[in-house]
Amino acid sequence: MALEVTGLTYRYPAGLAPALREVSFHLQSGAFLGVVGRTGAGKSTLCAALAGLVPHFFGGRMEGRVLVGGLDSRQTSVADLTHHVGLVLQNPFTQLSGVKETVETEVAFGLENRGIPRAEMRERVAEALERLGLVALRDRHPFTLSGGQMQRLAIASVLVMRPGILVCDEPTSQLDPAGVREVMGLLADLHRGGTTIILVEHRTSLLAEMATRVLLLDEGSVLADGSPREVLGREDLEGLGIRPPLPAGVYRQVRDLLPPGTPVPLTVAEAEAAFRPLVSIGGDEKPS
Ligand SMILES: Nc1ncnc2c1ncn2[C@@H]1O[C@H](COP(=O)(O)OP(=O)(O)OP(=O)(O)O)[C@@H](O)[C@H]1O
Ligand SMILES: [Mg+2]
Repeated sequence: MALEVTGLTYRYPAGLAPALREVSFHLQSGAFLGVVGRTGAGKSTLCAALAGLVPHFFGGRMEGRVLVGGLDSRQTSVADLTHHVGLVLQNPFTQLSGVKETVETEVAFGLENRGIPRAEMRERVAEALERLGLVALRDRHPFTLSGGQMQRLAIASVLVMRPGILVCDEPTSQLDPAGVREVMGLLADLHRGGTTIILVEHRTSLLAEMATRVLLLDEGSVLADGSPREVLGREDLEGLGIRPPLPAGVYRQVRDLLPPGTPVPLTVAEAEAAFRPLVSIGGDEKPS
């Protein structure tokens, strides 16, 4: 599903300055957009705008337009938008309904009162539980789950709506390394299946491997919008409060030892190719 953001400027009711300024970008269906930017850059606000929470839930002053698969976010209710765009929040606790007493009914919550036949509802819930490894936890109370389990529940409740666009705001902040790999694998799967993905993630190494495009926000404005190479390969990334992908950091330390013109590696595969000459010239020898 395609997405169009045009001239989006937004100020929270209590905001002194706009949280988003003239943000514009168009995404083709099937894109995988990474979003980076220092703390307070406006990443979560952008996610909220894509899901319609800005302005419907937060109020405030919004200018410009967000079109989700052709639907104008301002003229569409948040409930209707959830069928097109799913939002996984930074903190999974805030995503729970607070009214459902089991994992299974929490996952079903979004489908209730939507006129979806019972059999289909059961099938969709079962699929979401299975996909997020929650089958064994289906009867647990959501508030008794660990942070990682709660994160998976939050993702399941969003996926059960089968949205064409999935927006994830630092979805792995509560997870251990195995959980991170699992969620990233799931996002890759969904992307392969045709879902448009928008992922806010401070681990730029993950974005370098997965994203087809990266948006860099700073003080609410789009500072860069391009391929992972164009954006994550920038020399000034650290100055913008963003840690470069791991291979790029290593590259900066050993650059003088590499053949001239070696491009900055961003992925593991690129690092392997870039650093191979180091081994053959004995770049790891102790200085005499
Ligand atoms: N509910 C709110 N009311 C008023 N101002 C807010 C609100 N939420 C966020 N802001 C402000 O809007 C700006 C953008 O915040 P936002 O949470 O979108 O940044 P972020 O890039 O997601 O940061 P982080 O990396 O810390 O998650 C910040 O200046 C923040 O203080
Ligand atoms: Mg945020």
